[in-house]
Amino acid sequence: MRQLLLLSVLLLVLSGCGRNMYEQARFEEDEPSTFFADGTSSQPLPEGVVSRSRGAIDEVFFTGQDANGLLAEPPLEITREVLERGQERYNIYCSPCHNYSGNGQGMIVQKGFVQPASFHEERLQASPVGYFFNVITNGYGRMYSYASRVPPEDRWAIASYIKALQYSQTVPVTDLPAELREQLSSVPQGDQAGQNGETAQVAAPGEGADE
Ligand code: HEC
Repeated sequence: MRQLLLLSVLLLVLSGCGRNMYEQARFEEDEPSTFFADGTSSQPLPEGVVSRSRGAIDEVFFTGQDANGLLAEPPLEITREVLERGQERYNIYCSPCHNYSGNGQGMIVQKGFVQPASFHEERLQASPVGYFFNVITNGYGRMYSYASRVPPEDRWAIASYIKALQYSQTVPVTDLPAELREQLSSVPQGDQAGQNGETAQVAAPGEGADE
């Protein structure tokens, strides 16, 4: 009799250990709720809330666009340091497909992956910096999003570096500092101005490493 009692107590205790602790009542994003007056479980942020990571709240910074569309200027100060960071990140994350120079013939493409458009074609030359930020954030066609791997600050650095890379392919030789012009004149003829007449084809740092 005592054993039976013990058994039933044990059963009673054990039956309390369901999966309830794991499967607690919770709301999915934007799920309706009667708890709040506005009928949704996702409440707007209170005014003056402080962001743990800037991009999580500053929408323009995070999306690359404002009410007028894609940003033409990056929403942060572009220093040499930022561009160097962008170059480093670009070389790590983008060059395997887009190549160091941005011509779309990176190593993965040489091995058979879809070839992206060159960043130096007219349409992309004319695209604002926000466009590049947007593609890194959301992906584009067969290119997947880099949002989980590249934080927003670095996306702006990369996007700004791409604009610099584009500029590097069209800058008139006469605009170069004397020092660089000198370096250019020591490049064998045919490798420099060449195809673009008056413009210099300055190789991006790092290019050539895989040749
Ligand atoms: C694994 C290869 C790969 C990597 C790595 C990659 N891309 Fe791409 N990217 C592509 C391909 C392929 C396309 C074209 C997709 C299509 O047309 O379906 C593309 C398209 C783009 C476009 C749009 C071009 C257009 O035609 O409008 C931009 C901008 C771009 N990539 C930037 C980047 C940046 C910046 C990075 C690094 C953060 C990056 N990509 C990394 C393969 C890659």
